[in-house]
Amino acid sequence: MALYSEKVMDHFRNPRNVGVIEDADGVGEVGNAKCGDIMKMYLKIDDNIISDVKFETFGCGSAIASSSMATELIKGKPVSEAMQLTNKAVAEALDGLPDYKMHCSVLAEEAIKSALDDYYSKHGSDKQ
Ligand code: FES
Repeated sequence: MALYSEKVMDHFRNPRNVGVIEDADGVGEVGNAKCGDIMKMYLKIDDNIISDVKFETFGCGSAIASSSMATELIKGKPVSEAMQLTNKAVAEALDGLPDYKMHCSVLAEEAIKSALDDYYSKHGSDKQ
């Protein structure tokens, strides 16, 4: 039995939205102290819509697949929707992760929320 779903393997092998946005409106970086993995998210936001998102992940395959899927889930969506993204939704969209790899999807949720916090702290309410 395969440990990882085909979707996990696909997003691990061909991650979407890898890279850096130089003039990002929000940047968030999070890490997991136990495994040492680090995830960084860049958001471009226009009229309250996530117009672009990129990530850099220094981490395990599940962390890479989770970041890739998370960026796909929020791209083109309103900020308010991105704020609601949960690690569970990321894991479900990947057709599941092994229990001991669920924290990798938590990192993706946290990275997006951290980038959104950065956006709000820089832009306040004038862009709401
Ligand atoms: Fe830590 Fe995957 S093992 S993020």
